[in-house]
Amino acid sequence: MNKQQTTNTSATLRLRSGQALSAGNKQPTTNTSASLSAGNQQPTTNNKQQNLLITGGAGFIGSNFTHYYGQHHPGNKVVVLDALTYAGNKANLAGLESPENFLFVKGDICDRPLVEKLLAEEEIDVIAHFAAESHVDRSILGPDAFIRTNVVGTFTLLEAFRQHWQEQGKPEDYRFLHVSTDEVFGSLGPEDPQFTETTPYAPNSPYSASKAGSDHLVRAYFHTYGLPTLITNCSNNYGPYHFPEKLIPLMCINILLGKPLPVYGDGENVRDWLYVGDHCAALDVVIEKGKVGETYNIGGNNEVKNIDLVRMLCTLMDELAPQLPVSPAEKLITFVKDRPGHDRRYGIDASKIQRELGWSPSQTVESGLRSTIEWYLQHRDWWGPLLSQEYKAYYEEMYNRR
Ligand SMILES: NC(=O)c1ccc[n+]([C@@H]2O[C@H](COP(=O)([O-])OP(=O)(O)OC[C@H]3O[C@@H](n4cnc5c(N)ncnc54)[C@H](O)[C@@H]3O)[C@@H](O)[C@H]2O)c1
Repeated sequence: MNKQQTTNTSATLRLRSGQALSAGNKQPTTNTSASLSAGNQQPTTNNKQQNLLITGGAGFIGSNFTHYYGQHHPGNKVVVLDALTYAGNKANLAGLESPENFLFVKGDICDRPLVEKLLAEEEIDVIAHFAAESHVDRSILGPDAFIRTNVVGTFTLLEAFRQHWQEQGKPEDYRFLHVSTDEVFGSLGPEDPQFTETTPYAPNSPYSASKAGSDHLVRAYFHTYGLPTLITNCSNNYGPYHFPEKLIPLMCINILLGKPLPVYGDGENVRDWLYVGDHCAALDVVIEKGKVGETYNIGGNNEVKNIDLVRMLCTLMDELAPQLPVSPAEKLITFVKDRPGHDRRYGIDASKIQRELGWSPSQTVESGLRSTIEWYLQHRDWWGPLLSQEYKAYYEEMYNRR
């Protein structure tokens, strides 16, 4: 198989860097290096070269993971497959410049021939599957894309990977990591125990229902075919490269622009916040050490009410951002009509991954928000262009016509 040839040449970009294995030469590598941006997690040691396909690698978490994985496994090859929807941005992958061990492919996970070709030609051993429609509000406005990408797309990947794995003689070290959400478990009351891996599924939005459907498919492929799958269910993430429509970047950007801070309902909804670098470290550990067929909950143990989070952001922005248009920023808080079916509380019990795989979060909400705000202050050139006409039309529909 000629690994120097790319599949979808019109849509493919190879980027250049120094080191690197020849792509066709799967030499064992040992990764013991690297300081961790995600805090005090220990890097994992990987004695075998892996070729990783990251779907949705130009989105928020996928791009953070692509950077993380490149830093911690510099000898391994990464192929990013991303359709570059409104949420995907190639600028998120800037700096990943290596000709032989990084490949970006613009394409759709529902495109089975393309997926099959990539798996074969790039000799993929591991899929880290992030690609999704991910925004609850958009799923309420238009659920079709959520069913297509999250359910049909995951099914397409599973089928293509099953065929590839079988053709290669069912290697024991192949993995299909499915990145999912705590929203599949539904909503908790104030006194309910946190979600565990055995909490029954009870999704309440088209987004969470589509993710639940995909989780069930992944589970079934392990039980039916023995496909080496792993599922993670994670709480709300925040950090660099977060698209402006989501709560934390939306509030940061509106504070910088002096625009109202729309808080849904009474603001008492609780989310369990996790810094994205900690999520990446957890996913890396799950790929390395997770037991196939298992699911792992990932959370920050940081349950915070939305209104308290927004107040925290205001206080930090008052401190960190010079010359805000409206100060103190709290004056911008505006309560708006609630989201339909808005889940009241999410809380993750992450004791299994801590106990079995040795992962725990390194950031508190305070430290994570501080570095996130600093990143947004330093990267106006990243988020400015994302406030496009399409985004403004969406924003108008979501917040100004409620
Ligand atoms: N953001 C969170 O707080 C959070 C928490 C837990 C789990 N998750 C899960 O993590 C994953 C990534 O979330 P995110 O916040 O980074 O999402 P995102 O919306 O920022 O990124 C999704 C990416 O997938 C790509 N994509 C969409 N449809 C595609 C298709 N058909 N084919 C190929 N690529 C496609 C987009 O272009 C984009 O780059 C999702 O599966 C999501 O359910 C997210």
